[in-house]
Amino acid sequence: MIKRLRIQSGLQGTIHTPPDKSIAHRAAMFAALANGISTIQNYAQAADPQTTLKVIEQLGVLVERNGTSVRIHGKGRDALQEPSSAIDCENSGTTMRLMTGILSGAGIGCTMIGDASLSKRPMKRVMDPLALMGANIEAREGSYPPLVLHRNEGLKAIDFRLPIASAQLKSCILLAGLFCEEEVQVYEGVRSRNHTEVLLELPEEILDDGTRVIRSSRRHSVPVQNYAVPGDFSSAAFWLVAGSIMKEGEIRILNVGLNPTRDAALRVLKRMGADVRVERQSQAGAEVVADLSVRPTRLKATSLTEEEVAVAIDEIPVLSLAMAFAEGESMIRGAAELRVKECDRLEAMAVILRDMGIEVEEYPDGMRIVGRPDHRASDVAVDSRHDHRIAMCGAIAALRCDGEVTIDGAEHAAVSYPDFWKDLESLQA
Ligand code: S3P
Repeated sequence: MIKRLRIQSGLQGTIHTPPDKSIAHRAAMFAALANGISTIQNYAQAADPQTTLKVIEQLGVLVERNGTSVRIHGKGRDALQEPSSAIDCENSGTTMRLMTGILSGAGIGCTMIGDASLSKRPMKRVMDPLALMGANIEAREGSYPPLVLHRNEGLKAIDFRLPIASAQLKSCILLAGLFCEEEVQVYEGVRSRNHTEVLLELPEEILDDGTRVIRSSRRHSVPVQNYAVPGDFSSAAFWLVAGSIMKEGEIRILNVGLNPTRDAALRVLKRMGADVRVERQSQAGAEVVADLSVRPTRLKATSLTEEEVAVAIDEIPVLSLAMAFAEGESMIRGAAELRVKECDRLEAMAVILRDMGIEVEEYPDGMRIVGRPDHRASDVAVDSRHDHRIAMCGAIAALRCDGEVTIDGAEHAAVSYPDFWKDLESLQA
């Protein structure tokens, strides 16, 4: 689908972001491992978390859907059944990497497949530690889906230092650990999102050098829970940048999850001078939620720290748009992971920014962006590369274009934000 946009003035209005995708995936998986009926309120309708529901159904878990409410009838971690056909993770890296941990832990034999984009994403990072635990997994060229998981008679615990800041990798090993007699210990140097350890209440410890050690084993119960999923900060980030770089107006975003391992982009934007107000902050289960409102302002350039890169990894593409219209030179380094997301997001953003007349120097692990605070581009053509976040970045870019922005593959926004185009229209009205 090609979307054509012309946004002459600013945006004005109030929106709800979709439910948090990372928390939704995990709530569904953990409910499948628990023994009893868990409920999930505000479950994401986005394609990726829906994929996870289909996957747990394939493992013999009953899922009842009622709009955004879901009831999951877990029968305990040892009751998962071998699927009768390949497990299709579609576009979802989180489904594939986390489920590889669960399925290996459960000793289940199966094949895991994905769409064209997921089939190009590296799985060796999870295969290597799982092999150390005794799993036998084959992959195309040793790393890419399809993955063939061979049955096993039980994994053994390992001590594992995360070689990259990745919540998917951390979660995969901790979830495999839930099936081990001895404790798996995961050492995390640079923090990544913490939803797995928070929702499962896994024990953790901070060593003198700041390393976190998180543990899991068969002895940790997976409780039956009533989950309430907060609004997705990663989706809200598009509006925070839109509201900062637009000509006029104000955007309010309701019920946004502000987990400190997720909201780094808010801190970065504030450092750049963004006019964001945080209102009605409250506690929703284990997570803090708040309403955010944002008005346009003149931004200043900034550089991201290593810690920020890890916890703002999904927001860096849209932050690069804020940097493009900030005073001065901004620097993103240590973000090589962006090259192996749903597409090469560093290259995709460099192409968009250059097309808009912004000077960008690309590095293997980042980019230098020379901001032009008063600049407006003319016509821009964006290829979403089948990547939801790039499609939405294209829309936000339109706020700084006097001509027409065309977004090829606009439908991919639905992977994380099915109502994105509707919300954009309502803010233009
Ligand atoms: C996610 C972790 C991140 C992120 C992805 C969702 C998760 O990936 O990019 O969108 O839910 O654990 P990595 O952990 O591989 O960086």
